[in-house]
Amino acid sequence: MNTSLPAGQDWHADTYARNARFVADLGMPVVEWLAPRPGERILDLGCGDGALTEKLVAAGCTLVGVDPAADMVAAARLRGLDARVESGTALPFGPEFDAVFTNAVLHWIKDADAVIAGVHRALKPGGRFVGEFGGFGNVAACRTALHAVLARRGVDPAAFDPWYFPSPASYRARLEAGGFTVERIELIHRPTPLPTGFAGWVETFGSAFFAALPATDRPAAMAETEALVRPMLRDDQGNWFADYVRLRFKAVRG
Ligand code: BEZ
Repeated sequence: MNTSLPAGQDWHADTYARNARFVADLGMPVVEWLAPRPGERILDLGCGDGALTEKLVAAGCTLVGVDPAADMVAAARLRGLDARVESGTALPFGPEFDAVFTNAVLHWIKDADAVIAGVHRALKPGGRFVGEFGGFGNVAACRTALHAVLARRGVDPAAFDPWYFPSPASYRARLEAGGFTVERIELIHRPTPLPTGFAGWVETFGSAFFAALPATDRPAAMAETEALVRPMLRDDQGNWFADYVRLRFKAVRG
């Protein structure tokens, strides 16, 4: 089995479905950039539990989904999908796909060049690489608070921060160096409602930071983090939002 998950970051299909269903629900704009055509063979890189993969199958495409989290792959298979446990930095495919699609995954993989190289190998000449992930400035309030709470405890937050949020210019340069022509690349500010509040969001997306702390200190650290972000991320009716900034792109393999 070939996996690469950020240290301290666990993926469980049940907590993901509770805290993060919005990730797939908000994924339709990047599906529009992909513009899937019936009969195309598409790789979903980081398919998770397959909620969005299923929509591409419904468009008449043949899908292969890969994800490093076995629990998520099992959930995708329960939907009847061809889902496989694979690392995004070591994709095992030859030039067999018309398109590679990815939503809300690449910000977990710091070795972006290895991903781009594997996507290039997997695409037919002229194939499309279309995706969306966290871009420069993403979840800035959340990230700043998490860093502050670790730093107060004498822990270097950079050592536990699992996220990669590049600017359009820097990601474009990586794609071009990897043999792609970039047709579109944009940053999109998208404040995002958190259905299970800030604590639910941290449970699913920020656990790597708290893995740095003794279990006995985690509730206090969580309360401090929430207090720091509350003025920015909770509205006057008690609704929580995260300050998401998406990087959306469409590139073509040369
Ligand atoms: C995102 O989808 O942008 C995201 C997910 C988890 C942590 C940070 C950002």
